[in-house]
Amino acid sequence: MFTSLAALPLITAALLLCSMAAAAATSYPDFQLLNVKQTLLGTEKPNKPLETSEDNKVSNVTSESDDRQGKWKLKLVHRDKLFSNKTTLHNHSHRFHARMQRDVKRVASILRRLSGGGGHDGAAAYEVNDFGSEVVSGMDQGSGEYFVRIGVGSPPRNQYMVIDSGSDIVWVQCQPCSQCYRQSDPVFDPAASASYSGVSCGSSVCDQIENSGCHAGRCRYEVMYGDGSYTKGTMALETLTFGRTVIKNVAIGCGHVNRGMFIGAAGLLGIGGGYMSLVGQLGGQTGGAFSYCLVSRGTDASGSLVFGRGAMPVGASWVPLLRNPRAPSFYYVGLSGLGVGGIRVPISEDIFRLTELGYGGVVMDTGTAVTRFPASAYSAFRDAFIAQTGNLPRASGVSIFDTCYNLSGFVSVRVPTVSFYFSGGPILTLPARNFLIPVDDVGTFCFAFASSASGLSIIGNIQQEGIQISFDSNGYVGFGPNVC
Ligand SMILES: *[C@@H]1O[C@H](CO)[C@@H](O)[C@H](O)[C@H]1NC(C)=O
Ligand SMILES: *[C@@H]1O[C@H](CO)[C@@H](O)[C@H](O)[C@H]1NC(C)=O
Ligand SMILES: *[C@@H]1O[C@H](CO)[C@@H](O)[C@H](O)[C@H]1NC(C)=O
Ligand SMILES: *[C@@H]1O[C@H](CO)[C@@H](O)[C@H](O)[C@H]1NC(C)=O
Repeated sequence: MFTSLAALPLITAALLLCSMAAAAATSYPDFQLLNVKQTLLGTEKPNKPLETSEDNKVSNVTSESDDRQGKWKLKLVHRDKLFSNKTTLHNHSHRFHARMQRDVKRVASILRRLSGGGGHDGAAAYEVNDFGSEVVSGMDQGSGEYFVRIGVGSPPRNQYMVIDSGSDIVWVQCQPCSQCYRQSDPVFDPAASASYSGVSCGSSVCDQIENSGCHAGRCRYEVMYGDGSYTKGTMALETLTFGRTVIKNVAIGCGHVNRGMFIGAAGLLGIGGGYMSLVGQLGGQTGGAFSYCLVSRGTDASGSLVFGRGAMPVGASWVPLLRNPRAPSFYYVGLSGLGVGGIRVPISEDIFRLTELGYGGVVMDTGTAVTRFPASAYSAFRDAFIAQTGNLPRASGVSIFDTCYNLSGFVSVRVPTVSFYFSGGPILTLPARNFLIPVDDVGTFCFAFASSASGLSIIGNIQQEGIQISFDSNGYVGFGPNVC
């Protein structure tokens, strides 16, 4: 099935220039244009909010499914589009800084989660309390970058869910609520659902939950997050509705005691690589396959999240997924290098390697915005970019970015291409808007990468935007062929 790997080393083609598809194997453009003016117009006229958190109204985020093609599709909406309010709507700088604050917390939480263990029993340090700790409530900011709307129970009650590629559990806030944070939709009431069924302590589902307990014969779960927020409740089997596709007996956490700021969402839809994530549970029905498109900032389009074997695109470039037993929920990929302007930056491949002990490596994450690389890789990469952008006026650093440019007054600028070299040959060349991003409304753009405080690299959602990304449970992640 993946024999075309070697013949398709060029991911860049479909993403940037269709004509490149026919080009020689290792060539890709050295320079491309960043459309400064158009990008800034996008920041001035941000996405229309579909919903305001002030009046609790819920928008009509629909989904569609096509079982005949073996797939079903959900709209994937960025939080800025769903939950903008008057303060944040017209102020790009405000949204940017808020996003960076959340991002720093998210990355710190992932690093915390992966730094444990070492000494005694490497796995143990990683389980219980850190289960899902990548979901940073962030207190003031709330967590979750992308949301979908699904139906919970029978009849289905529509709820917004945070999607998270680094989480292995599905949960919603549940009545009776001893403690619930504010959400946009009424809190799910199991008593009003005909399909709800509690899970007994002895069941195999309960065995799969790391931090399970037993109360009055019912299986209890508890997820503690790094920042002090949590969800606790009972495990249940429930029907979830995705558009017209109905999936019965999904193991979900029904949270009666919840704390956290999931900004309006009813809960979380984990789509990580572990057994209890939605993807893990659907293994049989969907082949564990899903594909997503994170919509580009400043456009009116919605992204999409498609489940099912039929969602696997023909013509994608496939890169093997790697497993880290210390972090089964994370999707790791093999990265061998970075390129700037068509030239490979001199960085040792070892810097990106996932060690046998489960350290280092490169995670694909939907919940992290800015791609992180270990400090030495980042600085070599950045220096190569600076060396090839000497013609552009620099600006001082902003937030977590140390390499910024004053592009005010430019209509477009010519910038060197930025590429990821994946193990096995594929090269992903990013659209310019995925690596030079506006940080205010007046033309300051920054090189959207940062250094990691550890050996872990994370490929974040800003770099993934607009590229169709597909996960196949056979152990591959695909890039392209579509832009979206
Ligand atoms: C939502 O959109 C769907 C499809 O366009 C429509 O059938 C439905 O009536 C809408 N619901 C609401 C509450 O507007
Ligand atoms: C708007 O959102 C910001 C950031 O999330 C928040 O600080 C502010 O209180 C909100 N304003 C209103 C009126 O809800
Ligand atoms: C936009 O937000 C920034 C950062 O929160 C703030 O300093 C600035 O005053 C805001 N600008 C406007 C026009 O509201
Ligand atoms: C950016 O450049 C513009 C025009 O070249 C200039 O007017 C402005 O002061 C510069 N901004 C900063 C922060 O240097």
